Amino acid sequence: MSNGAPALEAVSLRRSFRSFVAVDDASLTLEAGKVTALIGPNGAGKTTLMLMLAGLLRPDAGSIRVRGHDPVTQGALARRELGWMPDAFGMWDSLTATEVLTTMAAAYRLPKAAGAARAAQLLEQVGLTAFAHTQAHVLSRGQKQRLGLARALVHSPSVLLLDEPTSGMDPGARIEARTMLRDLAASGVAILVSSHILVELEGMVDDAVFLSQGRTTAPPEIRTDIQPWRLVCLDGDAFATWAASMGLPIHPDPAPGAGGVPEGGCAVGLHLADQAQAATVLRDAITAGLPIAALAPAPRGLEHTYLEMQLETR
Ligand SMILES: Nc1ncnc2c1ncn2[C@@H]1O[C@H](COP(=O)(O)OP(=O)(O)O)[C@@H](O)[C@H]1O
Ligand SMILES: [Mg+2]
Repeated sequence: MSNGAPALEAVSLRRSFRSFVAVDDASLTLEAGKVTALIGPNGAGKTTLMLMLAGLLRPDAGSIRVRGHDPVTQGALARRELGWMPDAFGMWDSLTATEVLTTMAAAYRLPKAAGAARAAQLLEQVGLTAFAHTQAHVLSRGQKQRLGLARALVHSPSVLLLDEPTSGMDPGARIEARTMLRDLAASGVAILVSSHILVELEGMVDDAVFLSQGRTTAPPEIRTDIQPWRLVCLDGDAFATWAASMGLPIHPDPAPGAGGVPEGGCAVGLHLADQAQAATVLRDAITAGLPIAALAPAPRGLEHTYLEMQLETR
């Protein structure tokens, strides 16, 4: 199926509810084999955007292509490619986990035996085999979410849209979810996963799209040629003055949780090309008499990108 074209492409989507513009101008591209985060605060328009991508809500303007199909005019073809997991599991509470999946399989016109086999396989995949004959309403929130994921996968979609799948998950469940999403991506599925809590998706995603008041902004390009470093200096003011005199840009602390910052001191991010540049900066700073306590490469995470972005748009 893959011919280099994106799995899903949405351009300039817009959707209002009466006079309220919920999605103003949203564009995004999903690639096969990649997990993309859709990040935005509550009310940003994430669910509205995903409903449009899933073909469940008609855009007022803009275009969507799912494997080349327009969900508005070619609904059946687009839906064949799409798996949708809403933020609330919703209905079907009196069905057992198996029945939820076989009902969905029937809706996708899978023959009965194939549907039963698929249900068993998916329950295994999401770790719910022991709950095959348990009614959905008895399941915990995390288990319901896993069943919701299985339900979205019944017809082996090539594009998966997950609305806040990690909300309310404990760290253990999040690690499991991460493994499942990474495995699905590795099998070639294009995945979009929304969250209003950035750190919940850390380590789960390859890419991120930020949504704010219905408008998407791509995160600043994650430059792999520049490694963020974390510098700790015992004299914050002196370091800031020195860095300014050297024309060395100071970025936010790339690991704010790491601590180790004494009173009066600072922890800052520096974008350095390589170890040689780090050595030069360190030598110059120490030669200038600055009390440098640490300089080390920092992990380049989503949270860091987000902080950086807020800084740039300020
Ligand atoms: N069916 C609807 N009717 C009226 N307003 C809606 C409807 N759906 C969403 N909205 C409004 O659109 C905005 C975006 O909502 P939503 O897409 O659910 O955001 P998010 O998922 O990012 O929290 C909110 O202000 C919400 O109240
Ligand atoms: Mg939502």
